[in-house]
Amino acid sequence: MSTPHRITIVVGNTGDVSRTKVLAQAIGDALAAALPVTLQVVEVWKLAPQIGPALSPKGLPDEAAAALRAIETADLLVAVTPVYKGSYTGLFKHLFDLLAPDALVGRPVLLAANGGSDRHALVVDHQLRPLFGFFRALTVPSAVYAAEADFDGYVLTGAGLQARIAEAVQQAQALLASRAPAQALLREAA
Ligand SMILES: Cc1cc2nc3c(=O)[nH]c(=O)nc-3n(C[C@H](O)[C@H](O)[C@H](O)COP(=O)(O)O)c2cc1C
Repeated sequence: MSTPHRITIVVGNTGDVSRTKVLAQAIGDALAAALPVTLQVVEVWKLAPQIGPALSPKGLPDEAAAALRAIETADLLVAVTPVYKGSYTGLFKHLFDLLAPDALVGRPVLLAANGGSDRHALVVDHQLRPLFGFFRALTVPSAVYAAEADFDGYVLTGAGLQARIAEAVQQAQALLASRAPAQALLREAA
C-alpha cells in the first residue's frame, strides 16, 4: 500500500456551527475516498486567542505553532474560507501572514470559499488565488465555491457543487502525482 498523502485543511470558519466547515468536510471526504490520506483540520477560530495578538510566528503557543507546522509540511493544503466583505476573513489571512514567504513554494493547494450568495463567486480566483500566488504554491485550477443555496441548513445538497468538488479533487490528485519534480524545479529557480 502506498504512503498516505498528508493533507492539511485550513478552515477559516469563525465559529463551530459553520457551513464553511461542512464544505471543508465534504472536500476532505472526497479526497479520502479518492486516495490514501491522513487528514489534519486547522480551524482558524479555535486559534483566534493565540494568533490574534501575534505579530510574528516567534513564541506562538503550542497549538498555533503546531497548526503552522501542519500547513508547512502538508503534501496538499486545502484552504477554505467564508466570504466576508468580498474576501477571505481577516483571521484567515492573519494565519497565513505568520508563514514564511517561501513556506509553500511548489505546494499543491485546493481553494474553496463559502458565501451567502453567488454575487462573490469569483472570490476564489480574485482573492484566494493571488494570495497563494504570492506563496508560489501550485493552486488547483478549478475553484470550489458554495453559496447558501447549496445547503439545506447545514447539509450540503448542491449537485453542481459536488461535481465541482470531484473535479477539483481529480486535479489535486494530478498535482500530487507531479509534486516532487515540480517542487524541485521551483525551489531551484527560487
Ligand atoms: C461579516 C460578514 C460579512 C459577509 N460578507 C459577505 C460577502 O461579502 N459576500 C457574501 O457572499 N457573503 C457574505 N457574508 C455571508 C457569509 O459568507 C455566509 O453567511 C457564510 O455561509 C458564512 O459561513 P459560515 O456558515 O461558515 O459562518 C458575510 C457574513 C458576515 C458575518
